[in-house]
Amino acid sequence: MAILVTGGAGYIGSHTCIELLNAGYEVVIQDNLCNSSAESVRRIEELAGKKVKLYEKDIRDEAAYDEIFCENTIDAVIHFAGLKAVGESCRKPIEYYDNNIGGTVKLLQAMKKHGCKKIVFSSSATVYGSENPVPFREDQKVGGTTNPYGTTKLFIEQILTDVQKANPDWSVILLRYFNPIGAHKSGRIGENPRGIPNNLMPYIAQVAVGKLPYLNVFGDDYDTPDGTGVRDYIHVVDLAVGHVKAVEKAQKDSGVFIYNLGTGKGVSVLELVHAFEKASGVHIPYKIAPRRDGDIAVCYADASKAERELHWTAQYGVDEMCADSWRWQSANPEGF
Ligand code: NAD
Ligand code: UD1
Repeated sequence: MAILVTGGAGYIGSHTCIELLNAGYEVVIQDNLCNSSAESVRRIEELAGKKVKLYEKDIRDEAAYDEIFCENTIDAVIHFAGLKAVGESCRKPIEYYDNNIGGTVKLLQAMKKHGCKKIVFSSSATVYGSENPVPFREDQKVGGTTNPYGTTKLFIEQILTDVQKANPDWSVILLRYFNPIGAHKSGRIGENPRGIPNNLMPYIAQVAVGKLPYLNVFGDDYDTPDGTGVRDYIHVVDLAVGHVKAVEKAQKDSGVFIYNLGTGKGVSVLELVHAFEKASGVHIPYKIAPRRDGDIAVCYADASKAERELHWTAQYGVDEMCADSWRWQSANPEGF
């Protein structure tokens, strides 16, 4: 029995493959490597001491699924594959809807055809929009996404919910991630953004290794303790372990289950900068810049449902997240 991991060569997928292998699962990766590399799969094998089958195939490629499902006994799918850059999604909405939604529909057709009924999906806290009070809870109203990327998450959640309703023996688990940062303790795998990073931690890490001169802090006039934006940063290994728990849940119960994966703690931009300086011993110069369009002031999870139902809580704090991001970035300044 194997778990099909779409997007398994990517940042969160690679860390999840290691945790799955460590828990005794067989892993099959489907990834077109549009935002990752085969080297990351080699390093997964190195770290877990086990082999992984990589299908270098697009999730929109119908024929690929016959190969994958006939050559392997796929028990469940963890679906990470997708494009994820917010700004790019505003410039290329058709590509985002085609890749993320079109690809998911093709995957679901193949799962139905081959009798695979369990799926864990990478959703995002972005589905809570900007109107809900914090902490965000799974039973709050979703919607009001401000960019096509976020809207693909919202739509895919709905599509999966509809599919489960029509097929009550399916298990659909929607995981709403908060802000994943950090890297595997070995420093061998980590986040490897192409071009100038959009997200805070990879930007800080590139300033630290001298690839970028300083950090722009987007706004210091929010209604937060130090005026900068507050987020719920979660260690990518904690997130990966959450996926193993979700697969276990999918094996036991059918239905639609939604979980926030966060720590429940808010950390400001400047607090993260200072934690990174402490962990790395490197000074991070920054300038205050205008607010970034589409940003909200504060975002953090109520993570109690995952604790109650999946018996999962985040183990790592911000200091470890920063130390591990730094270990990866300093050992691999050019990525993989
Ligand atoms: P990533 O880009 O590192 O990984 C995604 C992987 O999917 C890449 O390896 C890429 O090559 C692959 N991929 C993309 N389109 C594909 C296609 N059409 N066919 C096959 N493979 C394809 O991103 P990540 O940070 O690991 O994110 C994984 C998932 O989690 C994504 O769906 C993302 O939207 C979601 N997510 C990420 C964050 C975050 O902050 N990183 C937050 C919330 C949700
Ligand atoms: C962003 C996306 C979100 C997506 C998530 C993961 C936006 C508006 N939201 O979340 O949809 O799910 O990434 O890909 O893009 N910051 C700076 N300087 C920087 C970068 C960020 O000050 O150079 C600040 C931001 O204003 C924010 C915090 O750092 O307050 C975190 O930003 P980021 O890492 O981009 O994550 P989110 O905006 O939470």
